[in-house]
Amino acid sequence: MDNRLFFPATVRNREPIGEVLSRILLPTGSILEIGSGSGEHGVVFQKQFPEIIWQTSDPNLINRDSISSWIDHEELNFRMPQPLAIDVEKTPWQIPYKLRLSLQAVISINMIHISSWNCTKSLFKESGKLLKKGQFVMLYGPFKIDNKHVSHSNDLFDNSLKMKNKFWGVRDVGEVTQEAKKYGFIEEEIISMPANNFSVIYKKICS
Ligand SMILES: C[S@@+](CC[C@H](N)C(=O)[O-])C[C@H]1O[C@@H](n2cnc3c(N)ncnc32)[C@H](O)[C@@H]1O
Repeated sequence: MDNRLFFPATVRNREPIGEVLSRILLPTGSILEIGSGSGEHGVVFQKQFPEIIWQTSDPNLINRDSISSWIDHEELNFRMPQPLAIDVEKTPWQIPYKLRLSLQAVISINMIHISSWNCTKSLFKESGKLLKKGQFVMLYGPFKIDNKHVSHSNDLFDNSLKMKNKFWGVRDVGEVTQEAKKYGFIEEEIISMPANNFSVIYKKICS
């Protein structure tokens, strides 16, 4: 059965995100993607980086079925594992041993503003346990800088998120960095991306 979902933003942002990844990823090893959604990013990046194993995950079964369908559709079953049922808040994450051994980074695209702040905390806490010195967490999405929105449209978007769920909202990059520090990460780089988004790289500085 074809359970593929189509998230329109992925078509717009996959190329610029792929450019950032091509600069920062090592040629081999595994990536753990948290909150993979439809799986469209996962299959695109798996094809862009064929020597890497792209491990998707999502707590939502409908999304995981979509990811599996995308893997089938793109004929990537030989390379790409099936999605993991990771809810970032439910710790410790159940990670296959092979993935743990080969992991080089944790990546989460458009997740931390559509979940509670506790999810951001858990993301760094668990990533801090899995990643080694020099490895990184990469976040992509809208952020406030110095507690200010970078555009009027981000401000409106933030309000709309909070109306849907009072625990959601565009995060301040400084606050995320403070949280990341607690688990051994420094803010390595903030990269401006199209449509008022950012990629933020947090590097682990201790083993
Ligand atoms: C806006 S979608 C983004 C999906 C995909 N990364 C993309 O950019 O198209 C937010 C994603 O975060 C996931 N998510 C929400 N709460 C989560 C949690 N507690 N743990 C892991 N993922 C979560 C949702 O299931 C959804 O796939």
